Amino acid sequence: MDFAPTEEQELIRRTARDVAERLLAPRAAARDEDGTFPEAELRELGGLGLLGVTVPEELGGAGADVVAYSLVMQELARVDASVAVAVSVTNMVAELIGKVGTDEQRRRIVPAIVSGREVAGAFALSEPQAGSDPAALTCAAVRTGDRWRITGAKQWITSGDHAGQIVVWAVTDPGAGHRGITAFVVPGLRHGTAGLSVGRLEAKMGLHGSTTAQLVLDGVEVGDDAVLGGVGGGFRLAMMALDGGRIGISSQAIGIARGALEAAIRYAGERETFGQPIIRHQAVGNMLADAATWLDAALLLTLRAAARKQAGLPYTREASMAKLFATEKAGQICDLALQVHGGYGYTRDFPVERAYRDVRVTRIYEGTSEIQRLVIARELIKAAGA
Ligand code: CAA
Repeated sequence: MDFAPTEEQELIRRTARDVAERLLAPRAAARDEDGTFPEAELRELGGLGLLGVTVPEELGGAGADVVAYSLVMQELARVDASVAVAVSVTNMVAELIGKVGTDEQRRRIVPAIVSGREVAGAFALSEPQAGSDPAALTCAAVRTGDRWRITGAKQWITSGDHAGQIVVWAVTDPGAGHRGITAFVVPGLRHGTAGLSVGRLEAKMGLHGSTTAQLVLDGVEVGDDAVLGGVGGGFRLAMMALDGGRIGISSQAIGIARGALEAAIRYAGERETFGQPIIRHQAVGNMLADAATWLDAALLLTLRAAARKQAGLPYTREASMAKLFATEKAGQICDLALQVHGGYGYTRDFPVERAYRDVRVTRIYEGTSEIQRLVIARELIKAAGA
């Protein structure tokens, strides 16, 4: 067992750290304040291969491994969690199409999104009444001649209004439950896709630099070349993609928490009460010690899931454990980091206030903590043959 990153993983981590500090840090607070979508930033990250970290180089990605992807997500989220979530979803979509798409789809779609030319990819699975239970979705794709007409609403779609390509899940066989669901790649609004519109953009507690759209599909027409991975095979694709996505979100949570903890340590070393820096007070030291221990435990769980995915081993259970633990503990770490800052932590003058808001959603999207527990419990039952 080797806990040190390889030379390649360290190189890409350093690239992500540098670009996060140079490109993202200067305007991260301003983007949060005014809700600017980081389009120019995403294009630049695309140029570095960070929108498709595990995507092969011939398709425009970095051709790196899953551990490297986790490290990239951590570094970006440490500075700007809003950019990180757009990067995470784009990686998830690009990897999925790169893996299961036809040659034509891979060549047409993947380079366009990972280069940043089409800014981002989006993952349109959830619906207003189907989030934790995507088998219950109602958006429908009806065959008319040699075309498909897709009608329905999609909810909570990260970058849904900006993405160049959107994977949309729709029912193609209404009586068949999860086996009647198909994934389609639909060109985004920037292509002027007829019948596609934004129902609303959510006003959120955090991640103000990321957009979360409700998408309305009103008879959007696509051909067979839009079907991803076969008719009726969509649910399985969603589950596969979400297993990998959960490594991305646990990495995002770790990055946010690391940024908050670093800020708390800095502040505690400078701020004095009772004649000494507060970091010398045992009460503060204990908070920092707990936070650092949880952070390392979250990191180890996440790297284990990433290493198993890279090795081609089953990793559903490990990805859910990593997401559950990392996101729950990251919430607690941001809370402690804010507490260390006292009243100042509650103001927008210190970045820990943004971290506290941004981290909250990591326990919700790409499967709530409750869904992660359900997945882990089912895996335990399966392993026990019970
Ligand atoms: N990998 C591959 N296949 C899987 C799988 C996995 N991890 N999990 C299940 N499957 C397969 C099963 O083998 C089964 O296949 P068969 O058709 O051959 O039988 C099929 O999928 C159905 O499995 P289940 O009966 O277990 O499915 P279920 O309906 O009980 O649901 C669940 C399982 C894990 C709870 C699932 O519904 C789930 O993950 N829910 C949460 C959804 C989620 O995370 N949504 C977030 C959306 S994305 C987002 O947040 C927006 C964003 O932009 C960030």
